[in-house]
Amino acid sequence: MLDIKITRAEKLKEKPDDSVLGFGKYFTDHMFVMDYSDGIGWHDARIVPYGPISLEPSAMVFHYAQEMFEGLKAYRTASGEIQLFRPDRNIARMNNTAKRLCIPQIPAEDALQAIETLVKYEQDWVPHSEGTSLYIRPFVIATDPMLGVHPAHNYVFMIILSPVGSYYAGGLDPVKIFVEKEYVRAVKGGTGQAKCGGNYAASLIGQEKAEKYGCEQVLWLDGVHHKYVDEVGSMNVFFVIDGEVVTPELTDGNILPGVTRMSCIELLRSWGMKVTERKVEAAELFEAHRAGKLDEAFGTGTAAVISPIGVLNEDGNAITINNNEIGPISQRLYDELTGIQWGKVEDTHGWTVKI
Ligand code: COI
Repeated sequence: MLDIKITRAEKLKEKPDDSVLGFGKYFTDHMFVMDYSDGIGWHDARIVPYGPISLEPSAMVFHYAQEMFEGLKAYRTASGEIQLFRPDRNIARMNNTAKRLCIPQIPAEDALQAIETLVKYEQDWVPHSEGTSLYIRPFVIATDPMLGVHPAHNYVFMIILSPVGSYYAGGLDPVKIFVEKEYVRAVKGGTGQAKCGGNYAASLIGQEKAEKYGCEQVLWLDGVHHKYVDEVGSMNVFFVIDGEVVTPELTDGNILPGVTRMSCIELLRSWGMKVTERKVEAAELFEAHRAGKLDEAFGTGTAAVISPIGVLNEDGNAITINNNEIGPISQRLYDELTGIQWGKVEDTHGWTVKI
């Protein structure tokens, strides 16, 4: 069990109105910090005022991107309680990422204690309005002041909190997605399944391109054939083809194993629906659309929740899915998932953790 020392901020910030939150623009009064050094392990767990940190310009994270992060949320229920959604899954994924990036493991119980203690300390920051939550961003950076390329010997684990509304400005409105055929996000054996900043840096050029085509996000294809669908950068992706739900399989290690993805698959199966995890060719989607069989498409993610996809744009050839409206499966998943998260629907799966 961590001994977490708390230093209270001298002045607390004014909290933003729930209506202006957006995503990741505001940060709470405090943050969690814990250091790691070889030979000592993780030590000096503390909650301190949120603010700038001091690192040497030679700190390894700035040069070789030895860094990882996670994203989960705390929700306020109608009765005012605060709960997390499947934090054990995020923590397990964080330690898988750590392994891939040669970052020391953080004991799962310590990571959970850190998250719970910080969220509890900042509980007044969990927003009340429908559709809002407190986004939790744990991350680890390598801090050795050293330019040799090898795993660092010193790290900092931090957790910051941000009250959020919708990830996309349009909320549940369907998004437009650009099929990227030039750049790739990940290849087999790379870091696609890890949650590390480098993956997102590599995705920015595709994102810029997508925006030029009037799209919000990129649909990444596999790095070898440039043919099979991987994911949408900030979301996993599902398609309903001729009544069957399909989603790209995780087997090649290119795709982030999303907690929302996993929860949607479990929910759909619990409703007796068939969900197939398999390779999905981008061309198959356009073909299914031509045949009138591409019923729905949607993205899933902690930040994005369920995000209907209204348009797929490949080389300027744009197809509209389900009349650019949210489909019945996306809507049902959204209602059930957010119902559980905000405590409106009974959690029969044991997914929520009260704080
Ligand atoms: C999340 O859904 O929590 C993410 O980390 C996506 C993000 C990069 C905004």
